[in-house]
Amino acid sequence: MRLLVTGGAGFIGSNFVHHVVAHTDHHVTVLDALTYAGNRASLAGLPADRVSFVHGNITDAELVDDLFGQADAVVHYAAESHNDNSLADPRPFLDTNVIGTYTLLEAARRHDIRLHHISTDEVYGDLELDDPQRFTDTTPYNPSSPYSSTKAASDLLVRAWVRSFGVRATLSNCSNNYGPYQHVEKFIPRQITNVIRSIRPKLYGAGLNVRDWIHADDHSSAVLAILERGRLGETYLIGADGEKDNKTVVELILTLMGQDADAYDHVSDRAGHDLRYAIDSTKLRDELGWTPQYGDFEAGLAATIDWYRNNEAWWAPAKDATEAFYAKRGH
Ligand code: NAD
Ligand code: DAU
Repeated sequence: MRLLVTGGAGFIGSNFVHHVVAHTDHHVTVLDALTYAGNRASLAGLPADRVSFVHGNITDAELVDDLFGQADAVVHYAAESHNDNSLADPRPFLDTNVIGTYTLLEAARRHDIRLHHISTDEVYGDLELDDPQRFTDTTPYNPSSPYSSTKAASDLLVRAWVRSFGVRATLSNCSNNYGPYQHVEKFIPRQITNVIRSIRPKLYGAGLNVRDWIHADDHSSAVLAILERGRLGETYLIGADGEKDNKTVVELILTLMGQDADAYDHVSDRAGHDLRYAIDSTKLRDELGWTPQYGDFEAGLAATIDWYRNNEAWWAPAKDATEAFYAKRGH
């Protein structure tokens, strides 16, 4: 297959491209605008006869139309992805997540091309800490932030284009990813690189918020399974039973990096901060036979810490600007 991967120079998209090259014969064309979050170095070392790169924007209808004409299937990762940025300036989230997805859907309709849309568990809002329910594909949408509301909008557009125009699409909503190539603005890489730089890790509020962690490579294998065997029009939730509160994660990072477990600071909380996400991935596991390979969070985190220690040239250029942004917002 000739796959077009939008946002393939970002964190999860680049992990997916590496996964596809390692596990399939597909050819990949990456379409990426190289925003502050995109990095060509995340694709370094991949064979030129398997991966090509197009620098462009998913809102550029002419370019998108041209690229859809050359592909057999599209996997759509491109997005503005960071909640804190969406609170500071929502506009780019509307442009990329809503108009960008609309642009792809119109091209998918014209070319009758198979599309997989990547989304997030945040569209379902949040859960109480003691709620026995987890998110499923029938949980009502209830997004909290500008980021998650634009992702929810994009999901609804995909569903409408499936129903009204017969677009051959699937959707997936995944929980929090960790692993290599994640921007230092995000929770885990921010704390790891803080410790490397002798800055104390920063925990929002009391740190009791729970995220359901999954390794990015497990997300990739799930997306490939859905692309190859998923039922058209269906939504699959992707998660690896990795619920942990933020305080536990920070303490584990500090311990794994040889520091005192309490050597972190509490900082001001995020506005509208979702309390807990939790995914029930039974449908994906039962229907497509998917299982995650990174069951041991501590081992996956230790490998991720090693990756950031060994790849300072990849993350260092973004570190100072990221910390300056947080300092202005009291984080
Ligand atoms: P990221 O911010 O690391 O990467 C986004 C990529 O998209 C970057 O390479 C950027 O340059 C590109 N991009 C942004 N706007 C673009 C545009 N208009 N045109 C073309 N390219 C553009 O994001 P990520 O964390 O890798 O997330 C990827 C996708 O996965 C997103 O759709 C996100 O909503 C979803 N998701 C993320 C997580 C997570 O934990 N990070 C979990 C579930 C779902
Ligand atoms: O659930 C999936 C979502 O996970 C994706 O859709 C988003 O694209 C992705 O960014 C992520 O969203 P979160 O807001 O959960 O991730 P973030 O890494 O920003 O924060 C994780 C948790 O850590 C959250 O509760 C806020 C907290 N936090 C974050 C930072 C940056 C801190 O306590 N300190 C920090 O410095």
